[in-house]
Amino acid sequence: MDATLDGVRIAYHDRGRRHGTALLLIHGFPLNHRMWAPQLVALSPDVRVIAPDLRGFGRSEVTPGPLTMEQHADDLAALLDHLAVERAVVAGLSMGGYIAFAFWRRHRERVQALILLDTRAEPDSPQAKANRDTAAAKVRQAGSAAIAGEMLPRLLAPASLSNRRIADRALTMMAEQPVEGVAGALAGLRDRADSRPTLPTITVPTLVLVGEHDALAPPADAAAMTAAIPGARLIVVPRAGHLSTLENPRAVNGTMRDFLREIAPR
Ligand code: MLT
Repeated sequence: MDATLDGVRIAYHDRGRRHGTALLLIHGFPLNHRMWAPQLVALSPDVRVIAPDLRGFGRSEVTPGPLTMEQHADDLAALLDHLAVERAVVAGLSMGGYIAFAFWRRHRERVQALILLDTRAEPDSPQAKANRDTAAAKVRQAGSAAIAGEMLPRLLAPASLSNRRIADRALTMMAEQPVEGVAGALAGLRDRADSRPTLPTITVPTLVLVGEHDALAPPADAAAMTAAIPGARLIVVPRAGHLSTLENPRAVNGTMRDFLREIAPR
């Protein structure tokens, strides 16, 4: 489905029960809603699952960058308005987590609970910022596939990397993202705020998930982030790297389902 929100076309999937809990799934970089395909299927019998393509990704419109975390958060609040959803459980993976922090800062009254997957609160280091600019230049010159191939080994656990089905799925999704969307997102990621001061302000139930082999947002960092969020719980997902939703959907689905049932019993 498509919605035009403040003049920008945002594509989204909206599946499952119309009454009760809504779950908003925010994808990572450089991906689209399809990274949540196993969760859309597994969780929609329990809750309403809303999975947008963020501005600049998938079938959503590409607008000039930088695509900031704040812009994405405001787009998502507008999407919830469009769907007449007052409050949602907000789940974000990696960049989706950075956006979830911005969403909390700007629209906290809309957040019933948070699920933070394979993400971190720290901003980019100076070196990481420079790498974003190099990657943006490369994407513009050689296309999204050029950075997709480079990123893949860092995103997946070694066992997932040698699993053709998982590796091809992730690679194809990354290679398909629009060049200007990817470049604009890199600028937004480079400039994102430090979310560490946000962590102690979180007052809703929070679940943190991290792949045991996540090299980009490692379990030790996830543990420190969890400790800074009042009452938050950490689950380490076995046999998964940074793309835990695709690498070990069984474990992720089960953990998310248990959490949803706990915070909003049917
Ligand atoms: C992601 O998966 O969204 C990216 O790893 C985020 C990042 O590059 O910081």
